[in-house]
Amino acid sequence: MLQIVPISKFMPSLIWNSKSLPNIIPGNISTDSIVYPLGVGYPGDKPENRLIYGDNLDIMAALLPEYEGRINLIYVDPPFFSNKKYKARLDRGKDSRRPQDWQLAQGYTDHWKNMDDYLDMLYPRLMLMHSLLAPTGTLYLHLDWHANAYARLLLDEIFGTDRLLNEIIWTYHGPSPIKSAFNRKHDTILAYTKTKNYTFNVDEIRVPYNPNTVKTFRSSKKAGFGKVPNLERGKVPEDWWYFPVVARLHNERTGYPTQKPAALLERIIRASSNPGDLVADFFCGSGTSAATAANLGRRFIASDAQWRAVHTTYKRITLLPGAVTRLEQEARAQVPRGETDHRSKISLRRDFGIPALQIAPTLAEELDSWEVDPDWDENIFRSAAQAIRPLRKGKIPTTLNLPVVGKTLGIRLVTISGELLEQTLHV
Ligand SMILES: C[S@@+](CC[C@H](N)C(=O)[O-])C[C@H]1O[C@@H](n2cnc3c(N)ncnc32)[C@H](O)[C@@H]1O
Repeated sequence: MLQIVPISKFMPSLIWNSKSLPNIIPGNISTDSIVYPLGVGYPGDKPENRLIYGDNLDIMAALLPEYEGRINLIYVDPPFFSNKKYKARLDRGKDSRRPQDWQLAQGYTDHWKNMDDYLDMLYPRLMLMHSLLAPTGTLYLHLDWHANAYARLLLDEIFGTDRLLNEIIWTYHGPSPIKSAFNRKHDTILAYTKTKNYTFNVDEIRVPYNPNTVKTFRSSKKAGFGKVPNLERGKVPEDWWYFPVVARLHNERTGYPTQKPAALLERIIRASSNPGDLVADFFCGSGTSAATAANLGRRFIASDAQWRAVHTTYKRITLLPGAVTRLEQEARAQVPRGETDHRSKISLRRDFGIPALQIAPTLAEELDSWEVDPDWDENIFRSAAQAIRPLRKGKIPTTLNLPVVGKTLGIRLVTISGELLEQTLHV
C-alpha cells in the first residue's frame, strides 16, 4: 500500500537503523454513538464529523479506502520527543502556583527509547497523511526544537522539497526555570502542500498593518518607493506568529495538557480550507482543531489514542449546535467503564407537558458530563441532550429537557475521573 519514496540523489536524506515501513493492518472501527449537540438535528441529520478513539496508524489505514486524496487540510500536533509525561488537570479554580493542590489524571506520554523509536512512529503516519490529503490539500505538522529538523527531512522526502509552503514559528511567552540558555518560547509548524495547486485564502487571514507603517504611508508620498499598499485591506501575516498559550484564566482552557490556542488553528483553517471542507487532526488532544473547524463551518475527522483526549474533544463538540458527530472506536481501544447502578438517583419528570430527565445533585457532583438518548435502540446511542461540567465556574446541570420519550431511555454518565457508566431506564 505505502511505498518508500525514492529520493533524488542530489538531496540529502534521513537514514536511521530501523527505517522501514511497517506492515500496516487497517484497524477495525465501529460506531459507538452519534451526538446531536444541544439536540439540533436529532434524530434525522447524518453525522458529518467523526471522532475516533484509537491509535492513528490503525485508524488512518482504515480510513484510506474511503478518504484517499479527499482530506482538504490536515493539522497534527504529535508528541514532540520531549521525554515527558503530561498530566491532565481535573480541578478548577485552584492556585496554579500550588501544584501540590491540583487534582491530576493521566494525560499522555511523550517518552521514547531514542530518536529512532520516535521516527519509527512518525514516518509511516506522515506517509498515510500524504495519501489522505486532497490534491489541493496542505499538511501542517506542529513540533518544536526536539524533532523538527528530522521531521523536515522526512517531509521533504514524502512531499518533495519544493512542496514546503512555510516554516511557521509560533511564539509565546510564559514562566520558565531555564538559566543556562535562552528561554525556549517558540514552536515550529511545517506546512507542506500536496501539489502546486493548493488552497490558500489570502484574504481570509489578513491582519491590520502596524500603526507606525500606516502613519508613515499617510504622511509621506515617497514611503515604500511610491508603492502604497492597500492599508484598509491589511497585510498578509509574516511566517512568525504570536498567540498567547492557553493559560489558567482563558475560557477555552480544558485542563488537557499542551492544549493549543484556538486562534492559532483559526488562522491555519481559514488559510488552507473552505467552508464545507474536510479538516483532519489525528493527534487531536483536547480537540482544538475539531472545535475550531466546526465553528468555521468545516467538517472534521479527529482521533486520539487517549480516552481522556477523546472525551475532552467530545465535550467541546457538545457546545456546537449543528456539528452532528459520529463517535467511533478502534477495536483495540479500551474505554474505562464502571458498573455502579445510579438509577435510583435518576427520574423522569414532565413540567407543563415537557419531558425532562433529572439527576440527584449528589450524583451531579461526581460527574464530568451526562447525556441522554431518549429513545434508545440498545445499539447505537443517539445523544439528544447533553450536560457538561462548565470549564471554569458553576455546576453541571441536573435537568435535561428531552425532545421525545421512547420506551427505553439510555443515559451515559462520565465521572470526573473519566469512567463511563451506562444506565437504562424502561418507561
Ligand atoms: C500535543 S497533544 C495534542 C494537543 C492538541 N493539539 C490540543 O490542542 O489539545 C498530542 C496528542 O497525541 C496523542 N497521541 C500520541 N500518540 C498517538 C497515536 N499513536 N495515535 C493517536 N493519538 C496519539 C496523545 O494522546 C495526545 O493527546
